[in-house]
Amino acid sequence: MTIPSGSTQVFRLNADEARDKALRIAAAAIRRGELVAFPTETVYGLGADALNAAAVERIFSAKGRPADNPLIVHIADIEQVSPLVCSIPAIFYPLAAAFWPGPLTLIMPKSAAVPDVTTGGLDTVAIRLPSHPVAQALIRVAQTPIAAPSANRSGRPSPTLAQHVLADLQGRVAVVLDGGAAGVGVESTVLDLTTSVPTILRPGGVTWEDLAAVIGDVQLDTRVSDINTAADLPVRSPGMKYRHYAPLAPAVLIEGEAPFVWEKMLQSLQVDQPQHPGLLITEEGYDWFTRQPLPERCEFVLMGKRYRPDTIAAGLYAALRRLDELQVDRIYMEGIAPQGMGLAVMNRMRRAAGGLIVQAEG
Ligand code: TXA
Ligand code: MG
Repeated sequence: MTIPSGSTQVFRLNADEARDKALRIAAAAIRRGELVAFPTETVYGLGADALNAAAVERIFSAKGRPADNPLIVHIADIEQVSPLVCSIPAIFYPLAAAFWPGPLTLIMPKSAAVPDVTTGGLDTVAIRLPSHPVAQALIRVAQTPIAAPSANRSGRPSPTLAQHVLADLQGRVAVVLDGGAAGVGVESTVLDLTTSVPTILRPGGVTWEDLAAVIGDVQLDTRVSDINTAADLPVRSPGMKYRHYAPLAPAVLIEGEAPFVWEKMLQSLQVDQPQHPGLLITEEGYDWFTRQPLPERCEFVLMGKRYRPDTIAAGLYAALRRLDELQVDRIYMEGIAPQGMGLAVMNRMRRAAGGLIVQAEG
């Protein structure tokens, strides 16, 4: 079914009674097999009944998503896990106790109840219990697990505001629940529990350090840790093989410590001499640049505080969308330390740069 353009209903979830009514309408849409975009604590999701194959197929066509890229199944209660999986590994319990509800997705062997289209044909299923009250309420009222990728068109940055969802999917989704800004700003951490040592397939809202503190051994999939060789490695998480987000203008990521990273950005600008450069930069970097001789028509898009990677995660996708809107002809991105939330931030920036990475030497 294609939803005619303009038929998207948008609800702002401020007042309580309006909220209950919106949730009932959205849950009814899910039960009818339609699509609902909703806020989570990471990014907005594009949801459908995870157990209804025809409904899930609509997600793929609305997003323009390749059919082999599996979806995350969202639940509101830990009891909903067992019908979705054929076995629960022991390591699941301490992880769920420590990080659910929250931005951690756990991969386990799937049961027959989960349609193949939901898992992109894989025999595993990705499950997450989000902490956002609207996400939880929607799943509860709909009384079914909800499959949801990020609510962007494939290849666009994930949406952290309802207006990003509408910019990409207006007319392609029955209902949009506007719950304000998604807090974390990058997607959940995807952790594979089917390997002997749990493997991070995608760094995200729960850090490697936090996981290690709870379960000890955690490994990082080589496709995440080494972007340069990644293209030649077999794919464990199908989403990782697609260019996550390609800015309209060619983008370069400059990595290194401050102030060398900023000096290198300035130097690259002077060498390239673009007509209309865009700098994706931290607040500290912006301060530094205001004291330098700058080319005309240089756009600065601020993304947060350099030593607070959580603030950068929160603003990153909106900043990437802003750079496209400004129609810059070349993008320079300031890299940060890949620690804590910085690992997820750098993973997204490296993929946005399509592997064009420059090291600033200190
Ligand atoms: O924070 C999030 O995770 C958001 C919100 C809406 O919950 N969702 C999200 O979904 O980011 P999506 O579809 O954009 O990313 C899901 C990632 C993809 O990289 C996909 O390949 C991977 O999870 N994935 C899903 N199921 C998998 C499985 N069974 N095995 C390996 N990777 C899987
Ligand atoms: Mg996505």
